[in-house]
Amino acid sequence: MDPIALLEKHYSPGSTSYRILLQHSEQVANKAVAVANRLTDTTVDVKFVREAALLHDIGIFFTAVPQLGCQGKLPYLCHGIKGREILEAEGLPRHALVCERHIGVGLSAEEILRQDLPLPMRDMLPISLEEQIVTYADLFFSKNPAKLGLERSADKVRKSLARHGEDKVAVFDEWHERFGA
Ligand SMILES: [Fe+2]
Repeated sequence: MDPIALLEKHYSPGSTSYRILLQHSEQVANKAVAVANRLTDTTVDVKFVREAALLHDIGIFFTAVPQLGCQGKLPYLCHGIKGREILEAEGLPRHALVCERHIGVGLSAEEILRQDLPLPMRDMLPISLEEQIVTYADLFFSKNPAKLGLERSADKVRKSLARHGEDKVAVFDEWHERFGA
C-alpha cells in the first residue's frame, strides 16, 4: 500500500489542499514514527503508524475550510468520519479507524451527545497503541497555513486542549509521559 499514491488519488497534486495536507501529514508521520521507534517496552507496528499518519486527514476535502483549499460542505469536525469512509472503501479498515478516532485526543459518544456535535453518536477514542501515537503526534502540528511547518510546544498543546476541558489535558499528559522525547 502506497499512502502517497492514495492521497494523490483523492487530491490534485499542485492544489492548495494537497500541498497543506501533504506537509502536515509528513510532519505527523515523522513524529509518530520517531515515537514508535523510541518505545522499547512493547511492540509497535511502525509501518502501520507511518501509513496511518500519512492518511489520517484524507477526509478534509469534504469540509468547508477555504483557507485549507477545502471546498466541501461539511463542518471541519467531520473530516475524521469522512476519512474513515474513504479508507474503508479502499479496503483499509484499520487505517480508517485512525481517521475517525484522531480528533483532539478522541471523542466519546457521551461528549458527542452532550455537545450536540455533528457526528454519529459512538465512541471515537484512540484505543490501540498505534492509534494513540498518531493522535498524539497530530496534536503538535497545525494545518493553518501561517503555522504550517512549525511544531508546537507541549505547553501550547495543553493550552489548546484546555479549552475543551481539563480531562483532555490529562489524556495528553499521560501520552506525553509515555511518548515524549
Ligand atoms: Fe492532522
